[in-house]
Amino acid sequence: MSSGRTIVVGITGGIAAYKAVNVVRAFVLRGDCVHVVATPAALRFVGKPTLEAISRNPVHTDLYEGVAEVRHVAIGQSADLIVVAPATANTIAKLATGLADDLLGNTILASTAPLVIAPAMHTEMWNNAATVANVATLRARGVIVVGPGVGQLTGADAGAGRMEEPDTIVAAALAALALADRTDGPGADLVGKHVVITAGGTREPLDPVRFLGNRSSGKQGVALAQAALARGASVTLIAANLEVAAPTAVELRLVGTALELEAAVTDAAAGADAVIMAAAVADYRPVQVSAGKIKKDETGDTLLLELTRNPDILAGLARTKRTGQVLIGFAAETEPDPVRLLVLGREKMARKGCDFLVVNRVGWAEGFASDRNAITVLDHDGDIVCEVSGTKMSVAGRILDLIG
Ligand code: PMT
Repeated sequence: MSSGRTIVVGITGGIAAYKAVNVVRAFVLRGDCVHVVATPAALRFVGKPTLEAISRNPVHTDLYEGVAEVRHVAIGQSADLIVVAPATANTIAKLATGLADDLLGNTILASTAPLVIAPAMHTEMWNNAATVANVATLRARGVIVVGPGVGQLTGADAGAGRMEEPDTIVAAALAALALADRTDGPGADLVGKHVVITAGGTREPLDPVRFLGNRSSGKQGVALAQAALARGASVTLIAANLEVAAPTAVELRLVGTALELEAAVTDAAAGADAVIMAAAVADYRPVQVSAGKIKKDETGDTLLLELTRNPDILAGLARTKRTGQVLIGFAAETEPDPVRLLVLGREKMARKGCDFLVVNRVGWAEGFASDRNAITVLDHDGDIVCEVSGTKMSVAGRILDLIG
């Protein structure tokens, strides 16, 4: 879905500038109007013709070009969102002090739009006390810092400092845009909060090659993680068989089965301000897991599986949750009647005992795997808090309001 917005992509001088081309491209493909403001150093890493072809607009670099149209402030004033990717240590330092010695600095100072930066530098530079302080200053001002990730850097180095992947940067930027659109925009209201999110669907093995699973893609849980990161939270994502990429800025814990998810979420929840159980968790698992592949000539025309109940993880978290922690569960129901759907939601709330329950109608073409969702949130007493339908990112934003 396109927002058709004016997005300024600032590109600064780091090797990751080549990946910024894909950030620009993603916005253009959404139908946004993209203006690239590149520093002269950025153009040593990626060519102006490439950026102009991909952005479909002239690329601006020089502070003293377009003076008659007061370009040094006009670009910033027209922006709905500014994304700086990559953001070098030098640019971060300039932003923190409000320096405007180039077109990008002027553009940013002249803008009231949300600012998203994707740092990229070597690990030592990222960990340097000056950079740490500058990033903290920017975060405190509401700048959304995406990443950096951990991985291979330029040369032989590896570690923290790798620019986040373009899709993660774009997702965080869109979350920032969605938040800014709201009159009660919460901004970076989750700074200092640790949010644990489960995503995806558990798989219960039958034998080494088969499992009992479900159709959860992990999109809703990952959208929650992206939106929480964009609002400043530190996020632990407990991921069960995701079909979508997890943002690299999360602490990622990979799990397969319900029992593995239980162990991971129970451990992570101990220090969390909020836990959101968006994963689709198997209620049952096979009593026995066959050591070898189950052969059809040994089972005949029918195969009976004996299943045993998995623990109710959400109910367990509700029993042990510490004071002040917010626990949010989901209820995936196929009931088509809206009144009956809420009855089922209230019954589930009574069994689970969480603080909020996100009642989510699902079906062959609803809820699971789709990019959109429709939810009704109930509080602990079963009263309706809100009803939302839209992209999974917009749904995520409303759910996070419950802990903001
Ligand atoms: O991943 P997507 O493709 O984006 O799809 C999103 C979704 C439809 C999976 C998601 O929005 C959703 O509804 N997740 C909850 C799915 C689910 O397991 O619902 P449930 O009604 O069966 O379980 C209720 C709650 O108890 C859930 O929070 C679940 O995580 C939790 N649970 C379930 C079983 C179990 N043994 N322990 C649990 O804690």
